[in-house]
Amino acid sequence: MLVLGIESSCDETAAAVVDGDARVLSRRVASQDAAHRPYGGVVPEIAARAHVEVLAPMIADALTEAGVALGHVDAIAATAGPGLIGGVMVGLVTGKALALAAGKPLYGINHLEGHALSPRLVSRGLAFPYLLLLVSGGHCQLLRVDGVGRYRRLATTIDDAVGEAFDKTAKMLRLGFPGGPAVERAALAGDPKAFAFPRPLLHTGEPHFSFAGLKTAVLRAAQAAGPGCEADIAASFQAAVVDCLVDRTRLAIERAGEVSALVVAGGVAANQAVRGALQALADGRGLAFVAPPIWLCTDNAAMIAWAGVERLHAGLPADGLNALARPRWPLDPDAETVRGAGVRA
Ligand code: KG4
Ligand code: ZN
Repeated sequence: MLVLGIESSCDETAAAVVDGDARVLSRRVASQDAAHRPYGGVVPEIAARAHVEVLAPMIADALTEAGVALGHVDAIAATAGPGLIGGVMVGLVTGKALALAAGKPLYGINHLEGHALSPRLVSRGLAFPYLLLLVSGGHCQLLRVDGVGRYRRLATTIDDAVGEAFDKTAKMLRLGFPGGPAVERAALAGDPKAFAFPRPLLHTGEPHFSFAGLKTAVLRAAQAAGPGCEADIAASFQAAVVDCLVDRTRLAIERAGEVSALVVAGGVAANQAVRGALQALADGRGLAFVAPPIWLCTDNAAMIAWAGVERLHAGLPADGLNALARPRWPLDPDAETVRGAGVRA
């Protein structure tokens, strides 16, 4: 079984070919960092145009590298949301055009499902159900993954996503773009105890996350401390984030019921402090811990192709040419709305 994957929901353009035995035959990613850097964040219009420029030749290259003709793939899997709608449409419509031309089934993949199933691409023994901490630029959720397409949300953020908090901290400290890796780098040289930042909702039994108060505290500290304190602020911020992630994940472990493992996925899962703390938490509970390799944590198309493979294996129907591009698309449609402004799905 061969699936071509396409990803374009944010600021990475990606194409990959994955087979039914979890072999990644090719994977290409073009980052748009340089185009967005002058603005200190992702500009949706620039992102969409950049996807148009690079996606089609990238798909051709990915197929060539894999040694696979379009006519030989079993399905095409393209991200259909959630994300920046202009970019999502570029990838989805490209996927539809290829599917139509080659007479192949098209899967419109939920980008979050791509992240959620990505650990099974590298840990084939990872069985359902598992507890997933999904931490990315747009999301911070704890989910019980019961099977392909079966997700129960246990917690979400009531304000900012965790990656967003990293990106805004980097901006406030003028550490550069993209923010997450810049904060992690700066934190290496800093003292995590230098600033006593708030740990919103810590030890309250509250299942959900909140990062807005922490962000405000970082802004005040950055303004008050002036230049020279960036590393200490970055380290103290990262320590506060890690404490919150561990606290809420510990609670979720208690409430999730029987699970095979604790799994972390999404761009922030690339952070070594986050990985280390979650590993320690899982070890303390006698729970297996799975964190995909860094290239699979940040946005890529192998995870989208793999979600297509998983859907094919599970016998789920293709979405075909009527697949909709969805800027918002919760993994668990039955999850209750949580209090707070700017609620994430
Ligand atoms: O999953 P992803 O690549 O895209 C989304 O679906 O959002 O996640 C991107 C997010 C960004 O906010 C980025 O700053 C963050 O992941 N990130 C990190 C690290 N690498 C990426 N955050 C903390 N430490 C990192 N090393
Ligand atoms: Zn992502």
